[in-house]
Amino acid sequence: MNTKHRVFFQNAKKMKAIKSGSIDLVVTSPPYPMIEMWDDIFKNRNPKVKTAFKEGNGNAVFELMHQGLDAVWDEVVRVLKNGGFACINIGDAVRTINGNFMLYPNHSRILTFLHKKGLSPLPAIIWRKQTNAPNKFMGSGVLPAGAYVTLEHEYILVLRKGGKREFGTEKFRAARQNSALFWEERNQWFSDVWMDLKGARQNQVDKNVRKRSGAFPFELSYRLINMYSVKGDTVLDPFLGTGTTMFSAMASCRNSAGIEIDKNFSEVIDAQFSSIVNFSNDHINERLRRHEAFVKERIQTKGPLKHTNHNYGFPVIMNQEKNLMFNPLKSAEKTGAGRFEIGYSEDPEIKNIQQQEYPVEKGKKNYQQLELKM
Ligand SMILES: C[S@@+](CC[C@H](N)C(=O)[O-])C[C@H]1O[C@@H](n2cnc3c(N)ncnc32)[C@H](O)[C@@H]1O
Repeated sequence: MNTKHRVFFQNAKKMKAIKSGSIDLVVTSPPYPMIEMWDDIFKNRNPKVKTAFKEGNGNAVFELMHQGLDAVWDEVVRVLKNGGFACINIGDAVRTINGNFMLYPNHSRILTFLHKKGLSPLPAIIWRKQTNAPNKFMGSGVLPAGAYVTLEHEYILVLRKGGKREFGTEKFRAARQNSALFWEERNQWFSDVWMDLKGARQNQVDKNVRKRSGAFPFELSYRLINMYSVKGDTVLDPFLGTGTTMFSAMASCRNSAGIEIDKNFSEVIDAQFSSIVNFSNDHINERLRRHEAFVKERIQTKGPLKHTNHNYGFPVIMNQEKNLMFNPLKSAEKTGAGRFEIGYSEDPEIKNIQQQEYPVEKGKKNYQQLELKM
């Protein structure tokens, strides 16, 4: 078994390379309107944003920035299959413009737009990003009526195109069974508040690069891909950035396509690709070890489990978990510009595979020092 991955460096407002109705799942995070680090990207795309800023008209800036994203959402609706999902990570923004401090509700602007375009909103996830920063409380301190509650969460909007996905053929039913989550993962992942994704492993991008690029944690896209698609599906990220969604798809036996406007990201992507086999297998291994620890504890506290997984021989809670299997990664090859292929093993056991480092071309900057131009 193998999967294919394509990266296109272009503007996602026209995704010519992606056929209508060809995508099973979109996992993405756009540049956030009204958050300063993304101002230039919106100003450069539409001079009216600059003018609205000069006029101190925050509401107009907000609307114009969102209009810049709307074209991409239109494309997302076009390329999704019926029954396919879109998971959009977005945070609201607080900002003072012309002396007026207020919240700019990015999540509701995007949700309303996509709802109008025919997608069905489903219960969303609140990603709680607790911070200990001293300035997290805003406003008048302990004096009432002039302070604001902290903004320590982002959203993961979940929407579906058309009705429920059908798994009509034996092949799809088998892929679905094989792609099952552990019961204890279901309980955590399908909860509407994700308290923290800390402790989740990160692919090897320097922390500062992640911050400057607005990258989300690997675990975020990895979970969403495993929750809303099955092995062999195709996942799209129209705002690919450092490639986190693509790497999560690779680790999960899904195909992917990514669109990114800034070509500077290609080196970061290549550098991370060099370790994807070991990185993914470590991640799979951790899921297995966590399950074993869970089972041990559960048996001690509640007695034996009813079912056994056919591929690993360990106990599981539900009958639906009995065909669950992870395919360890066997090979990773860059087959052309923006083209990657991953080979998988059909043997559930993770062998100690030493992946060859993918050489970053001589003369190119080290990705850790890379200045990302926005
Ligand atoms: C919030 S970041 C995404 C980060 C990504 N999730 C990651 O983990 O690295 C948004 C990305 O969208 C890109 N971008 C902005 N406008 C775009 C457009 N119209 N088409 C394609 N990419 C765009 C930016 O360059 C940036 O890399």
